[in-house]
Amino acid sequence: MKTIIEPFRIKSVEPIRFTSKEERIKILENAGYNPFLIHADDVLIDLLTDSGTSAMSAKQWAGMMDGDESYAGSRSFYKFEETVRKITGDKYIIPTHQGRAAEKILFFIVGGEGKFIPNNTHFDTTRANIEFTNAEAVDLLVEIGKHPEQRADFKGNMDVDALEKFIIEKGSENIPLVMITITNNSGGGQPVSMQNIREVKQICSKYGLPLFLDACRFAENAYFIKMREKGYKDKSIPEICREMFSYADGATMSAKKDALVNIGGFLSLNDDELAMKCRNMLIVTEGFPTYGGLAGRDLEAVAQGLEEVMDEHYLQYRIRSTEYLGEKMIDAGIPIIEPPGGHAIYIDAKRFLPDVLPDKYPGQSIVCELYIEGGVRAVEIGSLMFGKYDKKTGRLISPPMELVRLAIPRRVYTQSHIDYVAEVIIEVFKNRDKLSGYEILYEAPILRHFTARFKKLS
Ligand code: F0G
Repeated sequence: MKTIIEPFRIKSVEPIRFTSKEERIKILENAGYNPFLIHADDVLIDLLTDSGTSAMSAKQWAGMMDGDESYAGSRSFYKFEETVRKITGDKYIIPTHQGRAAEKILFFIVGGEGKFIPNNTHFDTTRANIEFTNAEAVDLLVEIGKHPEQRADFKGNMDVDALEKFIIEKGSENIPLVMITITNNSGGGQPVSMQNIREVKQICSKYGLPLFLDACRFAENAYFIKMREKGYKDKSIPEICREMFSYADGATMSAKKDALVNIGGFLSLNDDELAMKCRNMLIVTEGFPTYGGLAGRDLEAVAQGLEEVMDEHYLQYRIRSTEYLGEKMIDAGIPIIEPPGGHAIYIDAKRFLPDVLPDKYPGQSIVCELYIEGGVRAVEIGSLMFGKYDKKTGRLISPPMELVRLAIPRRVYTQSHIDYVAEVIIEVFKNRDKLSGYEILYEAPILRHFTARFKKLS
């Protein structure tokens, strides 16, 4: 087989600024050893997130120029609505400025004290929006999804038996909806199978519950289904997407991922009454229903991006380039969540740095070293991001996994950038004996990872 190439030519480029290792040591020290506090200009390869970091196509930029900025009834809205509806098949398409705005509107209406929302794994903004209403966000991931070193095709699946037990235990009247996140971001970018979506839908139907998809990375999930699930090899990506959404009663979407844009999102639904409530809420918090917190030009870019993301050459390149980085790391003996996910590689920091205990933030230690060694910015997903203090003892309660995420922006970096990233990580891995833990000097009461400052322990 020939090399899988980037399925595009580059028309517009953005220079990246080189820094020396000595400069980076100083920059990181000034940022309190928190790469969130570094100027992006001081980063060489930015793998902090795949969200809102995509390169747009010439056609998307042309669409931006063609955007209709009318307050009500904009032509761009109808184009957007038609494109989204072709994918989700839903009656009501409600634009929002990003994914969490769709979540906020939905859960403000269906959430509240005494309610439970199951998911394979809630993303942190989804969880936060649910908990903000005093409802409970519950993760029901299949067991294998919790074991980084074990390989399986669909480690993002929901545990269907656990879901049924949960519904019986809590009572279906206390569960306004069930959600599935495709792909499962917090669990390593792992896909969910069509069979699993179908089975979850069957359970939902049995108990009269609606099923919603958190559809941020729906096209990447569809490609995994095509590659890995029996019966889908000869189906087109749009066909697979339509089938996935056919089992759902609605969806929330951050267009900043699989719509290949820098801002945008939507809520897609079928229920007349729920849609009316959501639209009313939208008018209060986002904007009129035909723009919902976005400019007409943004709606154009989303509509075009949604078409482009389902192109099979694009998806082959996308999934392969993530896997390519993963393979280089596995070959070098670096512990990662296996198999590689769709949008990111997740380093298993517990196995990378077994001597740095969770309360000394092993993931943060790796993140800092990747920056110093090569100007690569990654993000800790472990005790720093999800750790909570025990109310009685004040001791840190760590999450099950200590991870470092290297998220790959869409259509932004070339194969040689990725080769360079692999070289940097391998170098850090070779010198891992020299890495030490960190202590927090300052932290905010919520979402502390964004602004915390650290001291390097010797
Ligand atoms: N759901 C999932 C699965 C996500 O990954 C994200 C964002 C959201 C919802 C919220 O969307 O940012 O548009 O409000 N994930 C980004 C990330 C931030 O880096 O993984 P948003």
